[in-house]
Amino acid sequence: MRDTSKNQGSKSAFTRRAFFKGSSAVAATAALQGQAALGEDDQGTQVVSGSQKITLQVNGEEHQVSVEPRDTLLDVLRYQLELTGAKPVSSDGSSGASTVMIDGKPMAASTMLAVACAGKEVVTVEGLVGDEVPAAFVEHDAQQCGFCTPGFVVAVRAFLNKNPDASREEIQAGLNGNICRCGTYANVVEAVVSLAKGGK
Ligand code: FES
Repeated sequence: MRDTSKNQGSKSAFTRRAFFKGSSAVAATAALQGQAALGEDDQGTQVVSGSQKITLQVNGEEHQVSVEPRDTLLDVLRYQLELTGAKPVSSDGSSGASTVMIDGKPMAASTMLAVACAGKEVVTVEGLVGDEVPAAFVEHDAQQCGFCTPGFVVAVRAFLNKNPDASREEIQAGLNGNICRCGTYANVVEAVVSLAKGGK
């Protein structure tokens, strides 16, 4: 019987050495490539820390505010500018209670960093005084506790700006990002239907 164990061990050891050598070479190459890539990328990366002054345009007025990178737009609106219409119900924006318009689009202020809003046009519910939307909410009794109402009013204004001829079905679908715990949906829809040309 031929003893192959020595040969197998030798072959096996060679293979492991070869493997480790190869792995080391690959790892070293990858590390060098990574460093080269970091060297290129980090020239364009800017780390922001501490407070900084930015200008926010809110409801047609410019405001100088001092913000940290982590401050949300909702924080700044409520606690620096004392615009408390937008509500802190859900930090992930799932309730729609903090809805504001940013450059005409409905966005949850709780999910937007204030620094990202510099140079953009922000409209809160306070900027819609005299607008037909809050008047329609009152006329159709479209609120109970009112906690969701500012977010709804802004969302409706943004929706109608884009869909002035919306049908009832389109209105219902268009407002599905806003939640009302009191369940005033039927009257909210009636208020919007009264304003949309195609809703009647
Ligand atoms: S009116 Fe109370 S949550 Fe909508």
